[in-house]
Amino acid sequence: MALLEVSNLEIAVATGGQLLPVVRGVSFEVKANETFGIVGESGCGKSLTSLAIMGLLEGSQVRITGGSIHFDGRELTALSAEDRRAIMGAQMAMIFQEPMTSLNPVYRIGDQIVETLRQHRDMSRRQARDRAVELLDLVRIPEPGRRIDSFPHQMSGGQRQRVMIAMAMACDPKLLIADEPTTALDVTVQKEVLDLMADLQSRMGTAIVLISHDLGVIAETCDKVAVMYRGKIAESAATGELFSNMCHPYTRGLLNSIPVVDRDVEWLEAIPGRVPTIDEVLSGCAFHPRCAMAEARCESEDPDKRDVATGHTIRCHFAEVGSA
Ligand SMILES: Nc1ncnc2c1ncn2[C@@H]1O[C@H](COP(=O)(O)OP(=O)(O)O)[C@@H](O)[C@H]1O
Ligand SMILES: [Mg+2]
Repeated sequence: MALLEVSNLEIAVATGGQLLPVVRGVSFEVKANETFGIVGESGCGKSLTSLAIMGLLEGSQVRITGGSIHFDGRELTALSAEDRRAIMGAQMAMIFQEPMTSLNPVYRIGDQIVETLRQHRDMSRRQARDRAVELLDLVRIPEPGRRIDSFPHQMSGGQRQRVMIAMAMACDPKLLIADEPTTALDVTVQKEVLDLMADLQSRMGTAIVLISHDLGVIAETCDKVAVMYRGKIAESAATGELFSNMCHPYTRGLLNSIPVVDRDVEWLEAIPGRVPTIDEVLSGCAFHPRCAMAEARCESEDPDKRDVATGHTIRCHFAEVGSA
């Protein structure tokens, strides 16, 4: 049985007295030691899917409206907020694009790691501090015994990202969700951070869900990939299979496009138009207005999921199989 099994997950945003669906029946599973990639443009529902797994949607206007999230033998959607919190720091951890989401600017980084450790582990201050130095060393912060007393602003962006990874790995989680962890970093530092995550995974056996809008990052790091478009998985396969037999026109568009990350927009040159907003009503396949292959049927009928090879599924009426 997989460590994480997400089945028919549905998430909706409550706005103006109505519930607008934003994640529309997403299913995937992740095994221990596996890296599962979720890729798609901004606004496709990647972050909400990961926040739902982490139990971080509670109390917001966004909520789970259907489906299940099974983690390590437990149904998470049925747990109380308190039980979820206990699981969160100890068994699942999440890292974000912006390290300052996790790091508090007014505390020394060492104190923040010590705090995380002491929340979830029975450790003295001394033991936790020693462990924090080890963790900083593990994420390759130079002179960890000295840098442990730095404040976040005294570190570079890449180092802060490493500290956030150290905090996430502090309790040796079974699952790490990394939501665009390298998007804000330049290419060299990006590669170092991805290598670091792969290295930690091989030492600790952590399952990783890696979210990115960059198919290149996914290709290099993931065992399996799900391509998400407007709240649904458009195509999913093992990475090798996906790249040798790319079927969905959206996946092909992502491959041919160059994400622009140094602005707040991600402009994908190869796919005209943009992801529809959640309040736009669309009939048929959500991708049809942007799809070069679209025919009449695509405007009226939303394609069901179908298998094109072992473990390889798509949602498209017309994608030709085996013509990548
Ligand atoms: N708190 C919220 N309130 C209203 N709409 C939201 C909220 N969070 C996300 N959304 C909308 O849900 C959609 C999916 O968001 P998100 O999961 O963040 O996408 P991604 O991570 O793929 O960029 C977007 O259209 C976004 O505008
Ligand atoms: Mg996001």
